Amino acid sequence: MYLMQVAIDGPASAGKSTVAKIVAKNLSFIYIDTGAMYRTCTLIARDNQVDYGDEAEILKLIDQSTISFKNKAGEQKVYLNDKDVSLAIRTPEITENVSQVSALAGVRQKMVELQREMAGKNNVIMDGRDIGTTVLPNADVKIFLIASVESRAKRRFLDFQEKGIHQDLKDIEHDIEVRDYKDSHREISPLKKAADAIELDTTNMSIDEVVAKITNLIEKNQKN
Ligand code: CDP
Ligand code: CDP
Repeated sequence: MYLMQVAIDGPASAGKSTVAKIVAKNLSFIYIDTGAMYRTCTLIARDNQVDYGDEAEILKLIDQSTISFKNKAGEQKVYLNDKDVSLAIRTPEITENVSQVSALAGVRQKMVELQREMAGKNNVIMDGRDIGTTVLPNADVKIFLIASVESRAKRRFLDFQEKGIHQDLKDIEHDIEVRDYKDSHREISPLKKAADAIELDTTNMSIDEVVAKITNLIEKNQKN
């Protein structure tokens, strides 16, 4: 049976995970949130009081841990060993430091290996920064989602507000800009549009419109 691979990359808060989750559910694909995996590596460093730049120590700890995804009441959760860390990986401290951990060569090597293994036996939709360029270079459909930094900050602000978390809009915008800069300028697998990816500017698009557009691209590329 032919297995389909869909790669969605783009800067922070462009809407990647929101639309990827909906498309995956509609088409019965598995969804892999690679950002959650780098966030979990950052949590591992934090919980063990290891410096975010200490590659050797972080790698040792990752080797002793299991990072996985599990479905709970229809929602995908991230697990570190047998603990649900879905909320713990979204704190400002993790968000602030994840770009440092994700720039470590050994961490990327391990995560890419794990991501390919997870994708191996299913139709998959995977989102991140280097999916189309590095993790799944032969993906059937590659999307590069972008949106203005103002609209991305506003979306994240509203998202936090809905969850009862207050964070200043300007701080969110600043975090997004700093993270995008770091992610785009690191040496290994920087955030970059793959040559054969389709760029989609979602600044003025609703979630439904983005979902419809991506679903259409997938259906057009489906091989039977
Ligand atoms: O959802 P949000 O835009 O805040 O980011 P995320 O997708 O959770 O990713 C968090 C961080 O992980 C990014 O800022 C990158 O530093 C890193 N990341 C990466 O390096 N490569 C990926 N494939 C996915 C995420
Ligand atoms: O995964 P990524 O960091 O790219 O973004 P996200 O977490 O999926 O989306 C950030 C926020 O933008 C979420 O609250 C979405 O509901 C919202 N969003 C939106 O308002 N309009 C879109 N076209 C896409 C996402």
